[in-house]
Amino acid sequence: MTAMREAYGHVAEKLLEFVEQRTTDQTGATMQVPARAYLDPEQWQREIDLIFKRLPLMLALTIELPNKGDYKAMEPMDIPVLISRGADGKARAFLNVCRHRAMKLLDEGTGNCARFSCPYHGWTYASDGRLVGVAEASTFGEVDKPALGLQELPCEEIAGMIFVILTPGLAIDVRSFLGGMLDDLAALRLETWYFHKTRRMEGANWKVAYDGYLEGYHFQAAHPETVTPRTPSNRAYYEAFGPHIRLGYPQHRIVELRDIPREDWGLRENLNYDFIRMLFPNFAMFLAPEMCQIAQLYPGRTPGTNVTMMSYIFPQAPAGEAERKTLDEMSDFFFDVVEREDYHMGLRVQQGLEAAPDAQITFGRNELGNQYFHKWVDYYLAGGELPEPALRDTRPEAALP
Ligand code: FES
Ligand SMILES: [Fe+2]
Repeated sequence: MTAMREAYGHVAEKLLEFVEQRTTDQTGATMQVPARAYLDPEQWQREIDLIFKRLPLMLALTIELPNKGDYKAMEPMDIPVLISRGADGKARAFLNVCRHRAMKLLDEGTGNCARFSCPYHGWTYASDGRLVGVAEASTFGEVDKPALGLQELPCEEIAGMIFVILTPGLAIDVRSFLGGMLDDLAALRLETWYFHKTRRMEGANWKVAYDGYLEGYHFQAAHPETVTPRTPSNRAYYEAFGPHIRLGYPQHRIVELRDIPREDWGLRENLNYDFIRMLFPNFAMFLAPEMCQIAQLYPGRTPGTNVTMMSYIFPQAPAGEAERKTLDEMSDFFFDVVEREDYHMGLRVQQGLEAAPDAQITFGRNELGNQYFHKWVDYYLAGGELPEPALRDTRPEAALP
C-alpha cells in the first residue's frame, strides 16, 4: 500500500464517520478576527511586502510553457513578470522590464520566441535573459552587457509547477516550503495534463475571497443547486503541511465505501470524496477528471479588491472542435459558479466589513481551516517571531484564553 493510498484512506474514514454521525472536523475554540484585518491599508501593505513578495508563489504550470522558447508574461499585483523557458529547457523568471529605460517588454500572455525585443528602442534579450542586442550600439556609448540582462527572480520548477519569489535575490527552497504537500502534488503529475485556459476574476479583499475556499460550511446556504448536489454542507477533514492545507470533502456517495474493502478506500478520490489543495498564501486547486480549476489570488489595487486568475486544465487534450467546446463550457460553468456565488458573496462581506470596521468577525470551531490561515498570516506579519500555528487546539474550550 503506498503512503498516499494509506493517507487518503484515513481521510475517507474520517469523512465517512462525519457524514454518518452528522458532524465535522473541529478545533478547540472559536476565533475572532477584527474587521480591520481586512480593511486596514497598512496591514494590507505589510501582507504584500511580507507575504506576497517574500514567499514562493505558484505563478505558472509547466504545461503553460512546456517547450524551449515558450514564455508567459503576467502581472501579479501589477508587477510585470516574465517566465521563460530557455534553450537549455530551464524555466527562469524575470522582471519583465527593459534595462535601458525600464519599458515593460511584453504584454500579458503566452507565446514562443528565441529573442525578446523591447518595443521602445529595440534592445533584445535571449530567452535566458541575457542582453544580446543594443540598437545602433556604435552611437549609444558604453554598455556593460553582461550586467544588463533581465533582472532575475528566484524561480524553481517542481511537480509540474513553477514557483517564483517576486523579490530579486531572495533564497528559494520550494521543497522545504511545501514540505509534506510536495509528495501529494507530485503524485498528481500535473505536467501531463492539458492546459485549457485562464480567466481573470475580480472580487473583495484577498483574504475575504480566500476564506471562501477554506470551508464547506457555506455550501448549503450559498450553493444549494451547484455544489450541494455533489457534496454535503459542513462535512470536511483538514490536514496541514506547514501553512498549506489538504482539505477533504465527502461526496454524498461516500456511504458507498461501506460496500468497498477498507484497503481500497484510499483509491476513491473523486469517486466518493474530493480534495481542495491549498498552498499558502493564495492558491486553491480543485482537481477532478471532469473538471479542474486552479485559483491564484492576488491583492488588487486597493485593500478591498483582489484579482484571481482561474486556470482550467484537463487530463487530456480535446480530440476535436466539439470536445474543445465542451471543455470550454465546463470551464465557464465553474467560473460562473465561483463568480456568481462565492465572489458575489465576498463583495457583500466586504461591504459589511466596511460598514462596521470596529466589529469582530467569528470563525467557528468547524472553520478551523480559516482559523489556521489567519494565524499563518499573523505569523508572517510578525516576521516569524511567533510560534508556528497548530491546526487543532485540543485543549477543552474552558481552558482556552
Ligand atoms: S527601454 Fe527598452 S530599448 Fe529602450
Ligand atoms: Fe463556495
